[in-house]
Amino acid sequence: MPPKRDRPQERMDSLLREERRFDPPPGFAAQANVRDPRVWAKAARDPDAFWAGWARRLDWIKPFRTVRKGSIGAARWFLGGRLNACANAVDRHLATPRRWKAALLWVGEDQRHRTITYQELRDETARLGNVLKGLGVRNGDRVAIYMGMVPELPVAVLACARIGAVHSVIFGGFSAASIRDRVNDMGAKVLICADGARRRGGVVDLKRAVDEALEGGACPGLESVLVFEHAGNPVAWKAGRDRSWRELMAGASAECPCEPMDSEDTLFLLYTSGSTGRPKGIRHATAGYLTATLATTNWVFDIKDQDLYWCTADLGWITGHSYLAYGPLLNGATCFLYESTPDYPDKGVLWSLVERWGVTVLYTAPTTIRACMQWGDAWVDRRTMPSLRLLGSVGEPINPEAWMWYRAHVGKGRCPVVDTWWQTETGAVMISPLPGLTPTKPGSATRPFPGTFPEVVDDEGRTLKEGAGYLVYRRPWPGMTRGIWNNPELYRRTYFSRFKGAYFSGDAARLDADGYFWLMGRVDDVVNVSGHRIGTMEVESALVDHPAVAEAAVIGRADPLKGQALAAFVILKSGKEAGPGLVGELREHVGKVIGPIAKPDDVVLASALPKTRSGKIMRRLLRDVAEGRPLGDVTTLADPEAVVRLEAEVRRLRADRRNA
Ligand code: PRX
Repeated sequence: MPPKRDRPQERMDSLLREERRFDPPPGFAAQANVRDPRVWAKAARDPDAFWAGWARRLDWIKPFRTVRKGSIGAARWFLGGRLNACANAVDRHLATPRRWKAALLWVGEDQRHRTITYQELRDETARLGNVLKGLGVRNGDRVAIYMGMVPELPVAVLACARIGAVHSVIFGGFSAASIRDRVNDMGAKVLICADGARRRGGVVDLKRAVDEALEGGACPGLESVLVFEHAGNPVAWKAGRDRSWRELMAGASAECPCEPMDSEDTLFLLYTSGSTGRPKGIRHATAGYLTATLATTNWVFDIKDQDLYWCTADLGWITGHSYLAYGPLLNGATCFLYESTPDYPDKGVLWSLVERWGVTVLYTAPTTIRACMQWGDAWVDRRTMPSLRLLGSVGEPINPEAWMWYRAHVGKGRCPVVDTWWQTETGAVMISPLPGLTPTKPGSATRPFPGTFPEVVDDEGRTLKEGAGYLVYRRPWPGMTRGIWNNPELYRRTYFSRFKGAYFSGDAARLDADGYFWLMGRVDDVVNVSGHRIGTMEVESALVDHPAVAEAAVIGRADPLKGQALAAFVILKSGKEAGPGLVGELREHVGKVIGPIAKPDDVVLASALPKTRSGKIMRRLLRDVAEGRPLGDVTTLADPEAVVRLEAEVRRLRADRRNA
């Protein structure tokens, strides 16, 4: 039975009619890293042995003794082993012909480029490791990182790993308040930031956001701020706290050994929105995470030494961690990084960059693909992009039309498309085609990665052979999160309480007769806006934090470009006037509390919210109203009139917008 909370039916109806199928192109299949169709069966016979095989491809300072202990939710992997993530991603390649190969190829907003070889990346991470040590950072300390897309961002991440510090990247689009909460939750000792990030010809003043976050001693545990001078905007240096990256790096030695870490030591924390009011620090352990990203990058993205691999995600998200930094570098690839957005300096920049630099593997998000479709085929059709050989998609369900457009216009019908389903919590790709083996169906993420075992279950947790339900896992894999930082109880409650003995992903999925998975979106209070997870409760609490607001309900409504958009229904405190600027002010307020990505697209100043007689807000009805659908069952409402008034209010909002 499909989950009640979401509206998967419409999407399912279109997907059920989807019968197109594409076999891997024979030329691709012949050269693929994985060609043996028995890999799934072999991994299923002994999953621990399968993962141990991948783990042995890492460089170990001390080999592990036990592959795994414990079951899902408490599993520990590769026990007794010692290794270092930076040594694996960088140093190990120096003993091979990759030493002077570009590890990073970066193109700035001004289209000027920089290449950083593996040797240079080693030296930079070593210098920065020494700088961090000089600031008092020790094994196990947390370091927050808040920068734009510059090569120094992966350098910062890897330098932390080098000295055994736990990195936690805060996306550059988050606000001062978000920085403050995260820095305090993780107990960061040092924060690395850039002066600013270049954005569409302007500069986002990152350092000012940091100053605001730390104002008045708001982060008492933080000792230093290391500022990378990049964008050239004026910086208010705070004596005793702020230090210059360039100055300290100039005097730092490039001799900095890689700290031997225990397999289960924390590699990083990444904060993610969930159905609770506050972001959670998702914790990943060193060896398991490296094993999973090494394996999936090798098989899903078919990485070869001659590849120029481009993942368009920001390093502030898990996709950037796993498939822009760790996974490709573990495989010795050359990673392409672009500082700006897909529409700057023009709407064809993705394709001109692919063609100019010879990108071979491109990994992006459905929202970007849909935006490109909207900008018109001419931008992409004028490029032949002969270097491209594989396309990937991630972040949200991809609609078959976007999938087909991606394949036809970007891949010119030549390149396999891998739609990859996974999450911050899973660390690495979980459901995806293996491009040389799996026939693809537009809109389906296809089959589980070998050694992982998703199930679709009904409301009672019974496993379905076919049909729609909830996506869960009962069997462990090494890339799985080790929990929520400082909050084991929240971890248990969030993921392991809905279905006994199973990890609940929060997603709905349908399993078809061929065993293919069709992801249908979230069923909890999480909205996926342009591939970014936003918890509705976080937005609600940001809204009620505004002095004029009494109550707020936030939902996700379908949006042709972003996948989902945020719609907020707001009740003002009695006596507060809805002045002409109030809606704008509320949106800005959310931007200030969380960050611009969380600003609601619609703000409806409502006279009442539809509630059940027991006082629960009926979000299903709010979704109907926001999407302009006929209302479902309203008999349980305490005040059926409320929703009728709401419909009128939404109609008014739409008319105002059309007239504007
Ligand atoms: O709902 C699913 C959606 O994104 C959620 C995970 O978000 P996050 O942790 O931010 O990680 C995003 C990048 C891995 C999932 O619960 N999602 C991600 N990829 C897909 C997807 N939904 C459908 N198809 C996908 N390929």
